[in-house]
Amino acid sequence: MDLLVTTAARNPELVPLLGDFSPWPTFMLQDQISPLYYADARTAWPEHVLIAVDRDRPDRLVASGYSVPFHWDDDPDAPLPAGGWDEVIRNATLDRLAGRRGNLVSALEISVRPDLRGTGLSSTMLAAMRANAAESGFGTLVAPVRPNAKHHRPKEPVADYAARLRADGLPEDPWLRVHVRAGGVIAGVSVRAMTIAGTLAEWRAWTGLPFDTTGPVEVPGALVPVHCDTAHDHAVYCEPCVWVRHRLD
Ligand SMILES: CC(C)(COP(=O)(O)OP(=O)(O)OC[C@H]1O[C@@H](n2cnc3c(N)ncnc32)[C@H](O)[C@@H]1OP(=O)(O)O)[C@@H](O)C(=O)NCCC(=O)NCCS
Repeated sequence: MDLLVTTAARNPELVPLLGDFSPWPTFMLQDQISPLYYADARTAWPEHVLIAVDRDRPDRLVASGYSVPFHWDDDPDAPLPAGGWDEVIRNATLDRLAGRRGNLVSALEISVRPDLRGTGLSSTMLAAMRANAAESGFGTLVAPVRPNAKHHRPKEPVADYAARLRADGLPEDPWLRVHVRAGGVIAGVSVRAMTIAGTLAEWRAWTGLPFDTTGPVEVPGALVPVHCDTAHDHAVYCEPCVWVRHRLD
């Protein structure tokens, strides 16, 4: 494949391809914070939105990568936001409203077209995101990583899961492994990186599950159980993440 990885700023004519595919289950699209970024990422932060296409088939999206500058303590010993992904988007939005430029870049998402997965494209996209942040003058890229095999172990606390290593010392989780191999360092976890709350009728519609018993519910694709409360007619999902810090200099 003759791959072009560019930004929405450099190649605005490719922007309509974004959204060509969605890798997320319906319940993941209900986060109340994410529209603050996604509603206008392409116009507000176009230099931090990566678009990958095959030059021989420029009509389809191969992969996308979303990132955003935000203001935070760049001391490598300082904890990264306890509110994970949601807090990055909230802070980036507040920075923008205040006319402030963030001092760190945070990755928000890298997605590869389903039929092209397993061919190494995720490392290419992460390398491009690192290079893009460095070229834009940033010394650090952080990532509230959604470990992509955690849903196979929903009952395991995220800190224990993040600590699972293979015999070669790399993380067991494939997506965390890509980050560490690229030079990232695991810098902690957040247990509330994204919060999704809904009535039981909403959760039934999002998942097709009954949500008729109080207690934890395992939802396909969810990294931890969803907490269901039939007496009060709501269920809440607190998605965890693993913070990874990439120094770029
Ligand atoms: C996560 C994702 C970006 C990985 O992209 P990819 O191009 O398929 O991954 P790669 O081919 O680069 O492989 C990366 C690692 O995952 C492993 N891997 C790939 N597919 C796998 C699978 N189905 N099961 C287990 N491991 C897998 C690879 O072996 C590789 O590890 P290794 O280099 O140590 O062997 C892709 O699956 C995706 O878009 N998922 C949906 C969105 C998402 O979850 N993004 C990440 C959070 S934002």
